[in-house]
Amino acid sequence: MKSIHPAYKILLSIAIALAAVATIVAFGLYDVIKVEWVSFMEIQASYKPMEEPLPVASRSIPIEGVAAYVAGIDPSITKNPVPADKISVERGRLLYSVTCIQCHGEEYNGNGIVGIALVTHPADLTSAVVQSKLDVDLFNTISNGIIVKGQIHMPALNENLTFRDRWDLVNFIHSLKAAAEQPAPTPKP
Ligand code: HEC
Repeated sequence: MKSIHPAYKILLSIAIALAAVATIVAFGLYDVIKVEWVSFMEIQASYKPMEEPLPVASRSIPIEGVAAYVAGIDPSITKNPVPADKISVERGRLLYSVTCIQCHGEEYNGNGIVGIALVTHPADLTSAVVQSKLDVDLFNTISNGIIVKGQIHMPALNENLTFRDRWDLVNFIHSLKAAAEQPAPTPKP
């Protein structure tokens, strides 16, 4: 086998050494240069904490099995599909203590820890105004929140609560009326 000329050997080793140095420098500088490449996860379109969440697609269909009132889908569904029995009201009470109490308060009058600090005072859920609302109206308020002139007065809670959850809450809110109508205990003299 014919041996390589010593001059080529030197050239080859220099080339290999240069390539090695170039590779190390390239990796070392990566953090400084930050080559943009579409497959990098951090530069893909994504939602960051506190960013507007993706809205539920319009006309989307509930997957939880209980018929829902979705405006524009079926005008015949205008009433509460969940009977206001003990279980539903009790579920609503529990959900209230997780999702609503911080604003609407322990006494449902809007004096929750967060509620008292809000510019727009949360509604008194025992008031005649709220109690006179239809089930579907309450359902829609819970689902879509209350936005007045672009200001969020009450957040939409459709992403936090299933359809069943929301109807249970509606049943719970309306159960407060029944409780309020019970005769007050006669004050002791
Ligand atoms: C971040 C605070 C906040 C949370 C949480 C919240 N609300 Fe409200 N809610 C408000 C405020 C503020 C208003 C009054 C808005 C207005 O008057 O414009 C309101 C109003 C209402 C009303 C009255 C709607 C009307 O049309 O009169 C109902 C019913 C209601 N909330 C139910 C609920 C229920 C049920 C929950 C929990 C699932 C809940 N809210 C969670 C702040 C909140």
